[in-house]
Amino acid sequence: MNFHVLTLFPEMIDQSLSHSMIARAQKNKLVNLNCINIRDFAGNKHNHVDDTPYGGGAGMVMQAQPIYDAFQTIKASLFEGTRVVYMTPQGRVFNQKIADELSKEQDLVIVCGHYEGVDERIIDEIVTDEISIGDFVLTGGELGAMIVIDAVSRLIPGVLGKEESFQDESFSNSLLEYPQYTKPANFMDRVVPEVLLSGHHANISKWRHEQSLIRTYNKRPDLLSGSDISAKDKKFIEDYKNNIKK
Ligand SMILES: C[S@@+](CC[C@H](N)C(=O)[O-])C[C@H]1O[C@@H](n2cnc3c(N)ncnc32)[C@H](O)[C@@H]1O
Repeated sequence: MNFHVLTLFPEMIDQSLSHSMIARAQKNKLVNLNCINIRDFAGNKHNHVDDTPYGGGAGMVMQAQPIYDAFQTIKASLFEGTRVVYMTPQGRVFNQKIADELSKEQDLVIVCGHYEGVDERIIDEIVTDEISIGDFVLTGGELGAMIVIDAVSRLIPGVLGKEESFQDESFSNSLLEYPQYTKPANFMDRVVPEVLLSGHHANISKWRHEQSLIRTYNKRPDLLSGSDISAKDKKFIEDYKNNIKK
């Protein structure tokens, strides 16, 4: 998958994605990161890419032309219908479902704003999706772009090693993941649940699934409402709730 990031700070993205699994994915050519510096398309001797907002007000707005020109350098290499994401607090709030959806794309263009944001006309002209990483305002889109690239990349087949898996991971089935333990079996008198030491795969699997249900109910009950959990799981949660009340 090719990520094309239009940004004023390409080194920020390059550096932070040059570690661990995403670095390995790039080395193995499963992920290709192409950062394009919008400032290279300033087109003026002072390299300005922003200006004051029409109508007045504080701050500066990124001009449409440099972003458009930066985009033109990659456009010919993109498939018709390639998604162009603008990172913005006004967008759809990013989650695992969106990550999964984007991981099916071959190319993804990500536009990072700065200052007061970008001229609205560049959104109208090239952007297909607006994505937010949460209801707060950052100084720039780069951190959001990195989050999107990281979450999407690890879903691309082959990026996670055999030893890592996202099958039971939090959000993969509307549930949070069960608790995890590793050696030693006893840490400061806190012992690993016996079932995990039993070697009985069916019991371990059942215990983990029930723990996922309990965790999700306790930590993120919002994930359960509207989720497609089975009647059996719903009954398990009802029984659990009734037991707590007793
Ligand atoms: C200071 S923000 C601009 C906020 C804009 N004036 C507004 O109120 O909607 C500068 C840039 O940071 C990025 N940004 C800020 N918060 C973000 C968020 N929650 N999710 C994704 N990108 C964000 C966007 O690219 C935005 O153009």
